[in-house]
Amino acid sequence: HQKTTEFPEGFLWGASSSAFQIEGGWNLGGKGMTVADFNSFKRSHIQADTKVASDFYHHWKEDIDYMAELGLKMYRFSIAWARIIPDGDGAVHEEGIKFYDRIIDCLLSRGIQPFVTLYHFDLPYALAEKYNGWESRRCVLAFERYARICFRAFGDRVKYWQVHNEQNLMVRVDERMNIDAADKWEADRLRAQMDYHMFLAHALAVKACHELVSGGKIGPAVSSCCTYPETPCPEDVWAAANNDWFKAEYCLDMHQYGRYPGYYRRYLKERNIMPSAEDGDEEILKWGASDYIAVNYYRTLCVRYLPADEIHPVGERCFPGNEVDFDQYGYFSHVKNPHLVSTEYGAQIDPMGLRIVLNRYYQKYRLPLLITENGLGAADILTENGKVHDSYRIDYLRRHIQACRQALDDGVELMGYSPWSFMDLLSSHEGFRKRYGFLYVDRNEHETGSLKRIKKDSFHWYRRVIETNGATI
Ligand code: BG6
Repeated sequence: HQKTTEFPEGFLWGASSSAFQIEGGWNLGGKGMTVADFNSFKRSHIQADTKVASDFYHHWKEDIDYMAELGLKMYRFSIAWARIIPDGDGAVHEEGIKFYDRIIDCLLSRGIQPFVTLYHFDLPYALAEKYNGWESRRCVLAFERYARICFRAFGDRVKYWQVHNEQNLMVRVDERMNIDAADKWEADRLRAQMDYHMFLAHALAVKACHELVSGGKIGPAVSSCCTYPETPCPEDVWAAANNDWFKAEYCLDMHQYGRYPGYYRRYLKERNIMPSAEDGDEEILKWGASDYIAVNYYRTLCVRYLPADEIHPVGERCFPGNEVDFDQYGYFSHVKNPHLVSTEYGAQIDPMGLRIVLNRYYQKYRLPLLITENGLGAADILTENGKVHDSYRIDYLRRHIQACRQALDDGVELMGYSPWSFMDLLSSHEGFRKRYGFLYVDRNEHETGSLKRIKKDSFHWYRRVIETNGATI
């Protein structure tokens, strides 16, 4: 029989971004430098930097006009902590608050729900300098204060909140955490301590949101992980399960239940990096239970178990040079899945994996889910007559939206779909070369370009999808 492709009434069709990847104006309006700024300046030989980015700082009105034209029901973006509190835990900067006030008001006036992430990879650099960032409990307190300031300032209008973007991924990328330890064990010790402090901060923010934002909903955004075994060999199956647990689910378990799952506790003990805790922490961690889980999904992975003599020392990088698939804890290596095709940047495209992830997380945590990132990064080409024919992106999005539809039919409570990204922005590793947006931004990694916005073919396609509530995917 004919299945409907329509989505539930009120389904949140959205699009996403993050502050350091779009705003620019890195030191304008009194904003402090962030860890993301610091790293992008260091790496500016390979990527455009956060000084200008997509220049949302100056183009936000025009960009919100495009959002309205696209018909967005929600816009997921992040607040730059260092725009509100330039040094992380000192004076509050009213100009920063006003900047986001105007954006929120403008979104609402165009019928777009603001969906706000508090922290998307951009810790105020002053906190890294003063306290070594998340290593210190002072950073936890600073975050709680910052979160409360945001809830008080914007909570009358913003009802959807996200705490940390992809804590599970963030803590494993040294430059995001400002981890610079030459010694691998010391880096892992720091990572575990920072991760623990971020869990405390998450829990405190959830509690504060429930106290201060009437009708507010808050949750984490997880970098979801779906790993296949290379073969049906039980060891390969075990390796695949471990990858999902260690990369993503330990984090969701911590958020939801306030305790490390057994395998993670064992890892921390064996590696002798159990984070130091204080009396009362167990109670605090229980406050972290969320209202929903936001899922960021791009691709799936495939792994092979490594026999004992090939096992890398625990904590050593299995894949030097691969900056995203960092630490595998010595159990397995990644292999290519022969059943999938990859994007030009190597992500293996897998809509079925999204259906699997949505079902798995829903069945495990029984919380409504929302997709806050999904998309295809490509070096789009602007034609001479000013068009971007990104049929590959349309195809990717169509197949993933179909997977969402199937997950809904499977019984998953899916609140919305907000792909990455609304407009072209700085990719986290490849600057402007790797584009994700519906809106092309005339800018390149050499820091030139008019910053003009141009609607890609995918913009027109997605507008129609939203207009028909999914009936035209
Ligand atoms: C997610 C991040 O992990 O992946 C985004 O939340 C990021 O900030 C996105 O841009 C895509 O990754 P990349 O490296 O292609 O920009």
